[in-house]
Amino acid sequence: MSRLNARGRAPVLTFLLTALLLAAPASRAQEEAKTLPFTDNASNVASVQRGARDFMAYCSGCHSLKYLRYNRIGQDLGLSDDMLKQNLIFSGVKVGEPVTTSMPAKSSEDWFGRTPPDLSLETKSRSPEWVYSYLMGFYLDKTRPFGVNNLFLPNVAMPAVLGELQGWQVKEEGEKTAGHGEGLPLKLVQPGSMTPEEYKAFVSDLTNFMVYAAEPTAKERVSTGWGVMFYLIFLLLPLTYFLKKEFWRDVH
Ligand code: HEC
Repeated sequence: MSRLNARGRAPVLTFLLTALLLAAPASRAQEEAKTLPFTDNASNVASVQRGARDFMAYCSGCHSLKYLRYNRIGQDLGLSDDMLKQNLIFSGVKVGEPVTTSMPAKSSEDWFGRTPPDLSLETKSRSPEWVYSYLMGFYLDKTRPFGVNNLFLPNVAMPAVLGELQGWQVKEEGEKTAGHGEGLPLKLVQPGSMTPEEYKAFVSDLTNFMVYAAEPTAKERVSTGWGVMFYLIFLLLPLTYFLKKEFWRDVH
């Protein structure tokens, strides 16, 4: 009897599990907006430097970049250890340490309901366009604990930490053609300390820095690539040519 019951339950369980699996992503993916166009430029050193400074000032309190060491940033962006200490390292750690956050994961989970994720690979796991759009996409929403929501991460747990700079937006049907909401269904109702142009440049710098952070060796990879190509063409090609000549001499 009990066996029969178990068998009878199996399809119900499968159905419930499938329903759960299907429902889980759906609760988040509600109505995500189309991302804004953004062309990243991590080889613009000045932009990446500004992005690094701003990331340390506005983001590193909550988010780590655990695969990136401060002195690696210094080396890549042409900053001395002293400059690193004065401009980038606020937590008092040594220059050889990775960018970690001083906030214990447990407390942040209590405060935000979610631990702020490590952002080392964020531009790879999402995309540079997504990160850029996300930082543009906060809007006022009284139903949320921090009073804000995000077009690209519905029911976001992150406070709008750049609100003072960007100003405050509300959601309104129809894509806007000017100001902050350009291309998004958002309208600026209270200006921030930056103009829309300044804020866009600020977010572009941050995104460029995060693209760099996701692959600090990108530049080296490209130059090594050219070295290898050079080697193959100029050293191996003549060698191959003479070898071929040597082999074919007996054939003719
Ligand atoms: C006060 C803490 C706090 C600060 C400061 C903060 N964040 Fe966040 N951030 C969070 C939390 C919490 C989440 C998780 C949000 C969620 O999943 O709903 C998050 C999520 C994100 C995500 C999305 C991660 C993903 O793919 O799901 C990005 C991107 C991000 N933050 C970027 C930034 C940047 C850039 C800054 C600096 C301008 C910043 N954050 C500052 C707390 C913070």
